[in-house]
Amino acid sequence: MQVLVSAEAIQTRVRQLGATLEERLASQQFVMIGVLDGAFIFLADLVRSISLAHRMGFVSASSYRGAVTEAAELLISIKGMPDVSGLTVVLVDDIFDTGKTLERLKHQLHAAGAAQVVTVVLLWKTGRRTVDLTPDYYGFEIPDQFVVGYGLDFDEQYRHLPEICVLNPELPAD
Ligand code: IMP
Ligand code: MG
Repeated sequence: MQVLVSAEAIQTRVRQLGATLEERLASQQFVMIGVLDGAFIFLADLVRSISLAHRMGFVSASSYRGAVTEAAELLISIKGMPDVSGLTVVLVDDIFDTGKTLERLKHQLHAAGAAQVVTVVLLWKTGRRTVDLTPDYYGFEIPDQFVVGYGLDFDEQYRHLPEICVLNPELPAD
């Protein structure tokens, strides 16, 4: 597999993002919310580069496709996440592709009373956006290729890889 972003480059960038968020969030009460499953490794590294006190939790999102020809249905659950009312929420996901996941989650977090939602993604496939939203912070801009590693999967495989790899340049993006 072709390595697109090395483990070292990821670690350096995650520390930079942590420092940027620390500056932005100093003197605010905030909650870090990761989007399962893909963001679990990114969130784990990101929160360890932020020394400000905060609460943390997870929401889940998955795209379910019943048949190859059907449009993917986005399933979202915010059950079990910490109370966000009146707080700044930092919403953390692995990758911004079409942007539908973050748009829907941002809407639901506001509906749950969040005062402000700041979005952070490790990767941004800039060419694929279909919503009127861009991530507030991102680690790396990447081309429209299917990537795995550092939490991102293909059929629940490859999440453990410490780097971001292009799975197979011949596979279609979906
Ligand atoms: P969006 O709603 O289209 O922005 O999709 C975001 C979600 O799609 C991410 O949280 C990932 O779970 C998944 N996804 C999009 N592109 C890739 C990829 O290249 N590799 C693995 N998962 C991806
Ligand atoms: Mg995901």
